[in-house]
Amino acid sequence: MSEVYPVPAETAKNALIDNDKYNAWYERSVKDPDGFWGEHGKRIDWIKPYTKVKNVSYSGDVSIKWFEDGTLNVSANCLDRHLAKRRDQTAIIWEGDDPNESAHITYGDLHERVCRLANAMTDLGVKKGDRVTIYLPMIPEAAVAMLACARVGAVHSIVFGGFSPDALAGRIQDCDSSLLITADEGLRGGRKVPLKVNADKALETCWSCKSVIVVKRTGGDVHMVTGRDHWYHDIVAKASPTHTPVEMSAEDPLFLLYTSGSTGKPKGVVHTTGGYLVYASMTHQYVFDYHEGEVYWCTADVGWVTGHSYIVYGPLANGAITLMFEGIPNYPTVSRFWDVVDKHKVNIFYTAPTAIRSLMREGEEPVKKTSRKSLRLLGSVGEPINPEAWTWYHRVVGDNRCPIVDTWWQTETGGILITPLPGATALKPGSATRPFFGVKPVMVDAEGKTLEGATEGNLCLAEPGWPGQMRTLWGDHDRFIQSYFATYKGMYFTGDGARRDEDGYYWITGRVDDVINVSGHRMGTAEVESALVAHPKVAEAAVVGYPHDIKGQGIYAYVTLIQGEEPSEDLRKELVNWVRKEIGPIASPDLIQWSPGLPKTRSGKIMRRILRKIAENDFGSLGDTSTLADPTVVDDLIDSRMNRG
Ligand code: WT7
Repeated sequence: MSEVYPVPAETAKNALIDNDKYNAWYERSVKDPDGFWGEHGKRIDWIKPYTKVKNVSYSGDVSIKWFEDGTLNVSANCLDRHLAKRRDQTAIIWEGDDPNESAHITYGDLHERVCRLANAMTDLGVKKGDRVTIYLPMIPEAAVAMLACARVGAVHSIVFGGFSPDALAGRIQDCDSSLLITADEGLRGGRKVPLKVNADKALETCWSCKSVIVVKRTGGDVHMVTGRDHWYHDIVAKASPTHTPVEMSAEDPLFLLYTSGSTGKPKGVVHTTGGYLVYASMTHQYVFDYHEGEVYWCTADVGWVTGHSYIVYGPLANGAITLMFEGIPNYPTVSRFWDVVDKHKVNIFYTAPTAIRSLMREGEEPVKKTSRKSLRLLGSVGEPINPEAWTWYHRVVGDNRCPIVDTWWQTETGGILITPLPGATALKPGSATRPFFGVKPVMVDAEGKTLEGATEGNLCLAEPGWPGQMRTLWGDHDRFIQSYFATYKGMYFTGDGARRDEDGYYWITGRVDDVINVSGHRMGTAEVESALVAHPKVAEAAVVGYPHDIKGQGIYAYVTLIQGEEPSEDLRKELVNWVRKEIGPIASPDLIQWSPGLPKTRSGKIMRRILRKIAENDFGSLGDTSTLADPTVVDDLIDSRMNRG
């Protein structure tokens, strides 16, 4: 039995949703989805109101539509509709990498900046439906760029600033972006990130991309290509400060976001305007129990879905004050998060378990010497939070006062799906607890049999579903069906394993497919493998995840060299750097094991199950190895794993 943390009296008193309301709303959301979402869809402004609510089928060709005959503009919902009341209220608090740099941007300012960029983009020929790739650091211009795209009806695709030129190029090519918005350099932990240099390299192979807008962040020296490259500050200065938002259908795409799958190249997850905004704003309000005037801080990067839904779209649609942080948790000191909390009087703080674990290692003093009095609620996202990190977060950061919302969701889901609601849910450390409205978790075994009651299995989601769900994969609806709806008929398969306890609480146990979760970032094993085998000295590679104290999972690579090449420490470093260069630092292998051979079936399939066990140092339960073409390979691998200690 795990410890239970009841809803604190103080939280219960002011919370938007208590347990009775949760139960009643949840019941209605799954029994009468049209009625429920028909009502909640009105939380945003529609140009033409919808008359249809839900039109969803998880079978056959899979079609997901919400509010399909309604029209709206997402940027107008995040900006224009707030102006009467909030023109002078802060929308974004920006905290720079350098603690001496910060800014407050009001809804009025933000609106003007977005209008100017929308006009400048239009002048560059960007039209409704065009794709725009954004490769920016965590500066206000990132939010401005997203909203300007939404305003003109262009589909943005943000590529995390830590990705390599190759990774950026692949993502520009896949969706044929005609515009790239980047910066001279990024700044993280006092170090510069050569964004424009990377972008120039990427664009050598991207024929679709005709224009580049460059934000001056550091003032570093960069090369500007005449006719293609434009300084952001020049073009917005010339542009008009007013702009009429383009009317969009609820099912027009708002953005693409590439994420790793278990096979092949990254998938372009497509989110549309209406349902996504309803869901992002509703979850932001209720999961974080957001009250007027509160300062809310999500530490994610806008390069990931968390930044989309819970730094920009959800909070701004709600007229909230959202903090955007350019830096990292340990610069200039390991107290940075808590210094920022005190500096800006943050009430709600949302971060990732990996950050908690790395700060935990530094002891309590760097936390305890700060006040954190403003904090009211804490959140966690990205990977399972181990109970030890959870209780530390609760006790040390939250002074035993602040509930923690452990929010489970995915790039594909658009918003939070399984989570406590602060005023409704008693907490258990390590459990994401219960489903949000409209979400119907189903546990299935490997054969697809539905499991009832307290059980463990693969986590699927059944209809009716929620309006924020992805609609397709960019340019590949078949892959969409195959990846998510083919494994278990009529249901969305999440790729996660989970346990459901006697109280109906869900405990996410991690991916059951070939996706690794490194510090809350998804990496496909296939992507790292293809980067490794692209190295001239590598014959073959197999990559698996293994438990890592800070990152949750680390990347473990088995590498077979070509005939005549000898393993060496230098080559190990070379391969690590190679993968960093091919994909980006987040894909760097933590451990490389030289393996003269890999365990394969007689038909040549690599048996990853065995490689995972060896990487986990769990040699006792390798299971059946009799189907291997050469079982001695396994003994060799175990020997060399053990010899490395
Ligand atoms: C995968 C999705 C959701 C935004 C950030 C990651 C894992 C996410 C939790 C959580 C346990 C979690 C799952 C999921 N995950 N949140 N609270 N508890 N696991 O988005 O890159 O699409 O990754 O992250 O394995 O499938 P993503």
